[in-house]
Amino acid sequence: MIKHQYDVVIVGAGGAGLRAALEIPEGFSCAVLSKVFPTRSHTGAAQGGIGASLGNEEEDSWEWHMFDTVKGSDYLGDQDAIEIMAKDAVRAIIELEHMGMPFSRTPEGKIAQRKFGGHTRPEDPNDPDSKRIAVKRSCYSADRTGHVMLHTLYENCIKQKVHFFSEFFVTDLVMSGKSCAGVVAMDIATNEIHVFHAKAVMLATGGYGRVFRITSNAHVGTGDGFSFVYNNGLPLQDMEFVQFHPTGLWKLGILISEAARGEGGILLNNKGERFMERYAPTVKDLAPRDMVSRAIITEIREGRGFKGSDGTSYVQLDVSHLPKEVLNDKLPEITGFARTYLGVEPTKEPIPVQPTAHYAMGGIPTTVDAEVTRDKKGTKVTGLYAAGEAACVSVHGSNRLGTNSLLDLIVFGRRGGKAIAKFIKDAEFPPLPEDAADRTIARIDTLMNSKGKEKVGALRTELQEKMMEKVGVFRNEKDLTEMTAEIKSLRERYKEVSIDDKGKIFNTDLMEALELGNLIDTAEPIIHGALVRQESRGAHSREDFPNRDDKKWLKHTLIYKTDGKPKIDLKPVSITRFQPKERKY
Ligand code: FUM
Repeated sequence: MIKHQYDVVIVGAGGAGLRAALEIPEGFSCAVLSKVFPTRSHTGAAQGGIGASLGNEEEDSWEWHMFDTVKGSDYLGDQDAIEIMAKDAVRAIIELEHMGMPFSRTPEGKIAQRKFGGHTRPEDPNDPDSKRIAVKRSCYSADRTGHVMLHTLYENCIKQKVHFFSEFFVTDLVMSGKSCAGVVAMDIATNEIHVFHAKAVMLATGGYGRVFRITSNAHVGTGDGFSFVYNNGLPLQDMEFVQFHPTGLWKLGILISEAARGEGGILLNNKGERFMERYAPTVKDLAPRDMVSRAIITEIREGRGFKGSDGTSYVQLDVSHLPKEVLNDKLPEITGFARTYLGVEPTKEPIPVQPTAHYAMGGIPTTVDAEVTRDKKGTKVTGLYAAGEAACVSVHGSNRLGTNSLLDLIVFGRRGGKAIAKFIKDAEFPPLPEDAADRTIARIDTLMNSKGKEKVGALRTELQEKMMEKVGVFRNEKDLTEMTAEIKSLRERYKEVSIDDKGKIFNTDLMEALELGNLIDTAEPIIHGALVRQESRGAHSREDFPNRDDKKWLKHTLIYKTDGKPKIDLKPVSITRFQPKERKY
C-alpha cells in the first residue's frame, strides 16, 4: 500500500472538480484523482450550452432565470441556492471567456445565445404577468459546449500546476470519527492500493446514468461517489428524481442536444403531428424535459410512435427544414452522430429518438458552499465537500432545466473550492486510521479469488434493463415493490461474482466488478425514494399518484443505508421568492 498526503484531494476531473481545483491557493497541495484521463470526463459530453442571463440576443434578467429554474424544479429546488446560481451565472460566463473558452459568437462578436427548454421571459418585458415565451439564454460553443469547457478548465489547471492522478479509481472514503480524512484508490495500471490522507476531500464524481440500459452517460457514470457516501453512513438526497432527456438517439441513448429544438427542430409522431403542441401549447417542443419525455412515452403507448425492426419504439426529431449553415455551424456534432450511428441523413430525414437516462437531480446533500451535510438539520461533515452532478445543493429540485448543469458545476465548484481554501488554512490533518484501506483490500481480494458463478456483464444488464422497465419515466407501486425485491436479490447475487482476469495490469474486469457494486448501491436509494414518494413531481411520475402533493411532499428525502430497508428522513425546502403554483407551459 502506498501512502500520500495532500492538503486537498478532489475526486473527479470533470467541470466541478477542475473548477474547484483552480481555487486552491499556492502553498497548499492539491491532487485531482480521476478514473479516466481528465479530458475524457463526462462534462465533455455536454452539448447545448450553459445558461446565463447575459441578454446578448434579447432582453433577459437573473430573476427570470431564477423563476424558470424554480418552476422547472416543480418547486422542489432550494430557492436560496437557485438565487445564488442565477445571479452568479453572468460573472461565471465572463470568467470562462477570460480563461480562454471559445464560445460561438453573434455577428457583432458577442457570446451567442439560443433557446432551451423551460427558459422563458415575459412576452412584454415591462409586464411580468404577460405570457411567457422562450428566451435565448444558453451560451454555447456549437454543440460541443462541455467539451470546450472541460479543455479550457484542464489547461488552466495545468498552468496552475494542479497534480493529476489519472486512471486512479477511488474505492472508498477514509473517515476519522465524524470527519473525512482522505480516500482510498486503486491505480488501474497496476492494481496497487493508494491511501490519500487529506485535510479536505471533494467528491466531484458525476452521475449514475449507467444504472439504466438506455443512457446518455459515458461508461464512467457508475454512481461511485454516491456509493462511497451511502456506505459510510451518510445520506443521499432526492435520489428518486432521475432525468430522462427526451431525445437520446434511438436504441443507443446517445445525446441529441435540446439545442436541436432550440434552433427550431420539432418532434413528430407517426401521424406526422407536432405532438408537443397538445402537451405544452405555449412553448411546445421547448417544454422542460420531464414533460417532453412523458409526452413521448405517452405517444408511443397510445400507438402514435414508430416501431423499429427489433420491436422497440421511437418518435422522430426533424431538423431537415433548418438551414444548412445552422446544421453545419451550430449542430455539427449531433448531425454527425445521426449519420454515424444510425445511418440517417438529418438534412433530408428525421432522426429517430427516445428518452434516455441523462442526469441525477438528487445526490450528496450539501450547503451552498459544497459542504456535505449528514442530516435534516444540515450538520456538516468536517472535511468533506461535493459539487457538480454528484451533489444535491439543490438547484434542480425534481427536474433540471437544460444548460443549468454546466452552470451548477461552475458556480458551486468554485464556491466549494473557495470554502476548501478557507478551511485548510487553519485545519490540521485528521488522524489517519490504521485500517483505512482494509475494506477496499478485502473487497478486491474477494473478487480476485471468487469462484462464484455470477458474471459482471450479465448482472449489470439485468440491473439496467429492470431499472429501465420499472423505474423509468413512469412508475407505480407494483413495479417499485418488485424492483425492491429485485435489488435485494441482485445484491446477494453480486456476492457470487467472479472475474476471469486475475492479472494486475489494467484489470478492467476487476474495475467493472467494483463499478457494478457501486451501481447496485446507487440503484437502491433511487428505488426506495421512488417507492416512498407517493406523488408526481417533476421527473418522478407515479401512475398511481398522478398529482403533486405539496402538503405531504414539498420536502426533500434523505435516504440512509441500513442492514435492512433503507432509512428515510425528510428535510424542508427553502422557499424565498416564489410560492408553489401549478406548473403549466
Ligand atoms: O440537450 C443538451 O444539450 C443537454 C444539455 C444539458 O443537459 O444541460
